[in-house]
Amino acid sequence: MNETKASFTAISTACKRAYHSLHDNPKIFDDYLACRLIPDDMRVRMEHHLTDKEVDEIEHAGSYSNQTIPTGSLVKATIVLSRSRYTEDKIEEAAKQGVKQYVILGAGLDTFAFRQPILMKQLEVFEIDHPVTQEFKLHRLAELGWKHPKLHFVPIDFTKENLVVGLTRSSAYDRNAKSIFSWLGVTAYLTREEIFATLTSITKIAPVGSAVVFDYMDSNAFIPGKSSPEMQKKLEFLRKIGEPMRTGFNPSTLAEDLANLGFRLKENLSPPEIERRYFQGRTDGYHAQRYEYIAYATVE
Ligand SMILES: C[S@@+](CC[C@H](N)C(=O)[O-])C[C@H]1O[C@@H](n2cnc3c(N)ncnc32)[C@H](O)[C@@H]1O
Repeated sequence: MNETKASFTAISTACKRAYHSLHDNPKIFDDYLACRLIPDDMRVRMEHHLTDKEVDEIEHAGSYSNQTIPTGSLVKATIVLSRSRYTEDKIEEAAKQGVKQYVILGAGLDTFAFRQPILMKQLEVFEIDHPVTQEFKLHRLAELGWKHPKLHFVPIDFTKENLVVGLTRSSAYDRNAKSIFSWLGVTAYLTREEIFATLTSITKIAPVGSAVVFDYMDSNAFIPGKSSPEMQKKLEFLRKIGEPMRTGFNPSTLAEDLANLGFRLKENLSPPEIERRYFQGRTDGYHAQRYEYIAYATVE
C-alpha cells in the first residue's frame, strides 16, 4: 500500500458500513459508530441519502481527486457487511467459550471496542495495522476523545515485520491465552508468502484452539478470461490508487494450504452460502459478491 497515506480502502469500507447503518433496514451489520470515525466531509455526505453514483463521487473527492473511480455499486460492496457480521458472531461464540483476547489484523476504522461494551468486559482487544493507517485512526480517535483501557494499538507492516515480533511488543498480549484473530479485507493486498507468514505467526503466538476469521478472493478473480469485466475494473482502480490487490486462493485447496500451516479449516463460505445467510430475500440490491469468500480456521 501507499507508504505515506492512510489506506483509502480502510476509509471506504468504513463508509460502506456507515451508509448501511444510516440508511438500510433490516441491518446485516450495524456499525453505528463508523460514521463518526470517517473524515468529516465524508460523514456529512453519508448522512444524506446518497446514490451509488454520488458515493462514487465522494470517493473521487478530496485527496483522491485525481483518480478515476469505476462506477458501480461501491456502496453495496457487501462483503464488507457480511464478513464483519460473521466475525462478530464468531467472537461472541468464542467469548462464551472463555476466549479473552481478540486481535484485529488490518483493523482500519474498526469500531468493535467502542460498540461492544458487554464483550469488552471479557476481552482485551489488539488492533494491528499499517503504521500510517493506524496513525490516522489514532489521530481521529483523539479528536473524538474516544479511548478504551482494554484496546491496544500495535503498528505492524505485514510486508516488513513478523506478527510474532510485532505483537510481542505489546506487554498486554498474553501468548498463552486462547485468542481469536480477524483479518478482514487484507489478504488480497498481500503476496501469498506474506499471507502464509502471518498465518504461521498466529500458530506461534496463540495456543491450540485459537481461531482466525479472514476473507479472501477466489484466485479466478485475477485470471484474465475467468475474471469479470467489473472485477478487472476494480483491480485496475486499486492499482491506480496504490493499493493493488495481488493474491487469491483456490477455495477447493484452501483446507490443504491451511493444514500445511497448522490450521484446520472449519468453515469456507462461498458467495452462494454468503448470499443464503445474509442477503436472501432482500430487495434493496444487496447481494453476496462474486469471488469473495469467508474462512474460519482453528489452530491445531
Ligand atoms: C480494505 S482495508 C480493511 C480494513 C478493515 N479490516 C475493514 O474491514 O474495514 C485494508 C486494511 O489493511 C491494512 N493493510 C494493507 N496492507 C497492509 C500491510 N502491508 N501491513 C499492515 N496492514 C496493511 C490497511 O492499512 C487497511 O487498514
